[in-house]
Amino acid sequence: MSASVGNGMRASALDSERYRELQHGVPTFSFLSAEQNAFVASEVARLTLKQKAGQMTQVAMDLLFKGDTYVLTTPAEYDMDKVQRILGDLEVGSILNHPSNNWVGPEQWYQYMQLIQNKAMATTGVPVLFGQDAIHGANYIDGATLYAQPLGVAASFNKSLTEELAAMTAYQLKAASIPWNFSPAMDVGRNPAWPRTWESFGEDVYLNLTMGEAMLRGYQGNDVTADDKVVACLKHFTGYGSPLSGRDRSPAYIPERQLREYYLPQYANAIDKGALSVMINSGEINGVPTHANRWLLTDVLRGELGFEGLAVSDWEDVRFLNYRYRIAENLKAAVKLSVDAGMDMSMTAAFTDFPVLLKELVEEGSIPMARIDRSVARIIALKVKAGLYEQHVWNPADFEKFGSEDHAALSLQSAEEAIVLLKNDGLQLPLKNGQTIFLTGPTADNMRSLNGGWTYSWQGENGDKFLGDYHTIKEALQTKFDGRVQYAEGVSFSREQNIAQALELAKKTDVIVVCLGESSYTEIEGNIDNLDLPSDQRDYYDQLVALGKPIVLVMAAGRPRIMTDLAAKAQSVLYLPYPGPRAGDALANILSGDTNPSGRLPLTYPRAANAIVAYDHKTVEIVKNGHNPLFGFGHGLSYSTFTYGDLQLSSPELTGSNSVTVSVTVTNEGDRAGKHSVLLFSKDEYASITPNMRRLRAFEKLELAPGASQRVTFTIDADDLSFIDIDHNRITEPGEFTLMVGDKKATLNYVAK
Ligand code: BGC
Repeated sequence: MSASVGNGMRASALDSERYRELQHGVPTFSFLSAEQNAFVASEVARLTLKQKAGQMTQVAMDLLFKGDTYVLTTPAEYDMDKVQRILGDLEVGSILNHPSNNWVGPEQWYQYMQLIQNKAMATTGVPVLFGQDAIHGANYIDGATLYAQPLGVAASFNKSLTEELAAMTAYQLKAASIPWNFSPAMDVGRNPAWPRTWESFGEDVYLNLTMGEAMLRGYQGNDVTADDKVVACLKHFTGYGSPLSGRDRSPAYIPERQLREYYLPQYANAIDKGALSVMINSGEINGVPTHANRWLLTDVLRGELGFEGLAVSDWEDVRFLNYRYRIAENLKAAVKLSVDAGMDMSMTAAFTDFPVLLKELVEEGSIPMARIDRSVARIIALKVKAGLYEQHVWNPADFEKFGSEDHAALSLQSAEEAIVLLKNDGLQLPLKNGQTIFLTGPTADNMRSLNGGWTYSWQGENGDKFLGDYHTIKEALQTKFDGRVQYAEGVSFSREQNIAQALELAKKTDVIVVCLGESSYTEIEGNIDNLDLPSDQRDYYDQLVALGKPIVLVMAAGRPRIMTDLAAKAQSVLYLPYPGPRAGDALANILSGDTNPSGRLPLTYPRAANAIVAYDHKTVEIVKNGHNPLFGFGHGLSYSTFTYGDLQLSSPELTGSNSVTVSVTVTNEGDRAGKHSVLLFSKDEYASITPNMRRLRAFEKLELAPGASQRVTFTIDADDLSFIDIDHNRITEPGEFTLMVGDKKATLNYVAK
């Protein structure tokens, strides 16, 4: 097989004008000054081919330390021979991750980074770009404050909170001299079994777009060199969240129209707002691994979306073109495919053959030097933009707010707003004074189920060890309901349990709080055969129900594990989408009534594992055709009742490029203060492509005192009502649209003019 086979979603000749223009030579960057652009060009001219190949390489930090890769000595110590090999001989330009099985604070990171940067400056004279996955706080830096995972952040429907959380993460990373974060993930998760569902902002493209933009603002702000700013990395470009089977990195089949409707707008928006890097989708779409998809990586990303920044591969993905995807018969062919497609930097992880093979390909004339210069220029431009030539490290002593009370408060808020109250029959919650509680279940005394993966390790298995000072649900409830809580695990993820003894304890209490769900996982390790909850949890639950006591079901899980029968037998149901280390406290506050819940579902909670139909389904997908969720997208209860006045349109007609405003008055009819997210949906009544039942178009979160009212105004233009037509163009067709907020509706007529 030749290296050019399987190379793109559409055939576009390698030597086409467009390809040359997009791929070759040193560009100028609109995000740099003229002086900075001249500097980038001079750096590209100065570097040797070997150094350029090194710049395009990113290795795992483990390769610098004593011990075996992924099992380092503790404490981790640099192996100076390895440092010489990676930074001296191979002249690698980028490093990621953290030293395996070692977790250290900012002081130690400062030392680590100083050595790396000094070595790089002494050899190539180009600073290293160091990146990390800090997806819910700086989760590899000891002492950093973690918070809700992205699915929980999405459940908050709170844009300003999202931005603050991201800014906090950027500050923590800078305190450890790390200038680049592999976040936000904006993978619209359309298959809930996908084990990275919780890493995304849920199933809706607008929610992903909006939360992604808020995070981007928090990470990068206006000056990415600032102490509380880092370079963001949009991931995973694109279509990663919808593998057909629900298993990670398994084939996705996405027609181009769908791709443009659900998987490009969030990137287009973030690129427009200044995102400086993207990471490439590790999966395959329509039989083409994205790392070899020149149409997507060059024609679309560069040509259409106008992306000027850096496109980094995902973990080991260039090699995977050879032995996982089998579209390249050897590693050299894999390198050529990915570089031809438009990748700038290869995350080679533990391997170092990429720069060697790349250099050979250029020497053999298989890849033009001008193509390499293009990518190297992008990499240098990013290093310039991040201020790394001027400042390589940041003194942790200057970061007083690291691990502060302010950060802890933000983490608690994220947890409180991530928790979704799904059912509360007979207003069982908040719990009544004096009620005794039997607390049980595998997620009740376990930090992993509250934090998920990317928590002091990739799979999050160290959550309990490193977050020991935080409270599990059990610890938090025992503190909050002093003397009123009896606990037995009942059924466990890992241990044999005495269920009979647990049931005996349960009999003596007034209410049963049963915490079910999942432990932590991510990526392929989190694949499941069945979205249903495991049978041991279900059986145990039924035995508890048989006691006839009121049940509060707490579902702590990174994806909507099916709980239809269970929810029917509970008086109250809460969903905890990995709300982070303060989730125990947050839940205690909600159960006691100290906090009024305000989370809303960022995805559809299915009724059955084979009934996976998202909220924005087609009109034919009514109940009999699949959409009959247990709890719908946007569902979420409060202890207050929020009511809406009629929708007021500034005009019943929208013409051409004008806009109209939609206002609604929201009233808190309850007797306690509460937060509430107002969600505006639209429906295109007739369209040339079968229209969606509803699409989220705008949202805003309010906080209202008891009895208080507030008017919310949204602005809508034709673009907000658009869709991708049969020819793959974004259009808005004239005609009638229904706008909806809760139970209120208004009709808007669009006239193209
Ligand atoms: C994941 C990415 C992550 C990268 C670096 C990969 O396995 O897919 O999301 O950024 O590793 O840790």
